[in-house]
Amino acid sequence: MSQKIRTAVFPVAGRGTRFLPATKACPKEMLPIVDKPLIQYAVEEAIAAGVTKLIFVTGVTKRSIEDHFDVDPELERALQGPGKEQLLASVRDILPPGVSCIYIRQGEPLGLGHAVLCARPAVGDEPFYVHLADDLIDSETSVLLQMANEYDKHGGSVLGVELVPPERTSSYGIVAVSGAEGGPQRITQMVEKPKPEDAPSNMAVVGRYLLDPAIFEKLESTRRGAGGEIQLTDGIAAMLDESPVYAFSFTGKRYDCGNKLGFLMATVGYGLRNSEIGAEFRAALRDELLN
Ligand code: UTP
Repeated sequence: MSQKIRTAVFPVAGRGTRFLPATKACPKEMLPIVDKPLIQYAVEEAIAAGVTKLIFVTGVTKRSIEDHFDVDPELERALQGPGKEQLLASVRDILPPGVSCIYIRQGEPLGLGHAVLCARPAVGDEPFYVHLADDLIDSETSVLLQMANEYDKHGGSVLGVELVPPERTSSYGIVAVSGAEGGPQRITQMVEKPKPEDAPSNMAVVGRYLLDPAIFEKLESTRRGAGGEIQLTDGIAAMLDESPVYAFSFTGKRYDCGNKLGFLMATVGYGLRNSEIGAEFRAALRDELLN
């Protein structure tokens, strides 16, 4: 029987080396797309799926994430004047009432699997989401909510997947699935960052996971894998035989904001559709930047 998922884990302890020097003192997850940091898009997606407990796994240089989700009475007072209502609301409404934040330090960035394991005491024995803020997905319906609806059909764990060009498999966790078309796609094999010739398919896991708490036992015994890191993929692969894991093709446009090209594409995509500056931005792109 399925249950409501109230907890989301946001691993934000990586060093974001692909964005150095920008990420020397500023978390990658605080880089803005138009006017909101990546981590706020992530939190909004989780809240839209009914999440009330946000667990951030943080590390050095990440304190501004805590500040961002904290109340700032001084700033709110400064925005109290006429004409500033919208700005005031934009800082006051970052988190709705009833949503709480927990911060856990990952002493050393030993990998995504290790970061998720660090959240174990705060998650407890219930299913939970893992959300990677640098995979920004523009969708009408929260991707985590789409996954919850899929989970309601069969329980187990659900991973967000997307087909990637075959030559790009070595950047992702890649899965093989079984199941009739249109029905649940149960994952039968999972490999982290395989070379194209070793990949079981070109179906890649992206940064959205709905996980059964059984994952924690598996992560406890997961050794360092690809890149010398404790990989979440390896932990999930270890539970495939005991606990069903399904691949879910979500609806939405994904931007990989963990690299510069994806980040710039997201900036342009979101900028063009921004209600305040979209039309002007389109004209500026056409008339000034692309000439
Ligand atoms: P990435 O490998 O994409 O992020 O991890 P990174 O390590 O920060 O970036 P680069 O490769 O150096 O540029 C995916 C997500 O997992 C988190 C990261 O913060 C990111 O959100 N992560 C990764 C952790 O929380 N802990 C880790 O040990 C590794």
